[in-house]
Amino acid sequence: MPYALITGASRGIGRHLAVELARRGFDLVLVARSEELMDDLKSELESAHKIQVTLIVSDLSVPLAGEALYARVRQTMPVPDVLINNAGFGAFGTFHDADDHHLHRLIQVNIVTLTSLMRQVLADMLVRGAGRIMNVASCAAFNPGPLMAVYFATKAYVLHLSEAVAQECAGSGVTVTALCPGATATGFHRTAGFPEDSWLFAPPMAERPELVARYGARALFAGRRVAIPGIANKLSVIAIRFLPRRVAVILTHRVLRH
Ligand SMILES: NC(=O)c1ccc[n+]([C@@H]2O[C@H](COP(=O)([O-])OP(=O)(O)OC[C@H]3O[C@@H](n4cnc5c(N)ncnc54)[C@H](OP(=O)(O)O)[C@@H]3O)[C@@H](O)[C@H]2O)c1
Repeated sequence: MPYALITGASRGIGRHLAVELARRGFDLVLVARSEELMDDLKSELESAHKIQVTLIVSDLSVPLAGEALYARVRQTMPVPDVLINNAGFGAFGTFHDADDHHLHRLIQVNIVTLTSLMRQVLADMLVRGAGRIMNVASCAAFNPGPLMAVYFATKAYVLHLSEAVAQECAGSGVTVTALCPGATATGFHRTAGFPEDSWLFAPPMAERPELVARYGARALFAGRRVAIPGIANKLSVIAIRFLPRRVAVILTHRVLRH
């Protein structure tokens, strides 16, 4: 049975990505810190789809978390058929006021662990000559984001890394997709420290996570390099390409400090 390794699967977009892969008959290895939430999902998916779900409780913000995680996976499992690097979080506020330790944890999860896991899994997939990888970036990847400066920068990194490696892997049987959602109605804004009543992260401004996951799963299996769910998000990414960079940064600042 093919299986998918998915990080950040306890809630939000990652949880719905797990549902999408289960629907397609994949066994799952789910990773996050919230064991209870993943336990519920495991019971739900195993009974609905007759698949096997393995849970790994892991804090991906600690140094060498990616190395430890993949070593643990490979003790008992073959090379994954699908890797989805979805775990991530944001931090809202001015850069100079941010807490260094918090920013280090953010960079560790969004960049360091993602990179390590992707590289290790990719090396094994290339030997096998097959595999699909999806990294969850963001529309934030396309321009700088005042008030979320570090988060936006981490997502630009994820997008660039994914596109570059996708090209390196052309013709190898392994594909790399960057999923770039816009604002999505999950717990993301709460973790990031946005005001609870932020209109940016509530419908109709924000996309539903199940729709983002469905779109992402299709893009993953189609082997697309960059996938931007939603017409409004696609248009905003196109607009940003044509605006002078300084104007794009000013507009992004206005939207974020709403
Ligand atoms: N929501 C948006 O507006 C939006 C837009 C664009 C991109 N994204 C990206 O989409 C991805 C998923 O976010 P979401 O919106 O679904 O947010 P979410 O509901 O807060 O889910 C985040 C997931 O990441 C996991 N995670 C966070 N820190 C972790 C850590 N230290 N160790 C292990 N797992 C950790 C969480 O699990 P535990 O807390 O259980 O550990 C959770 O499963 C992120 O990469 C985010 O940057 C979100």
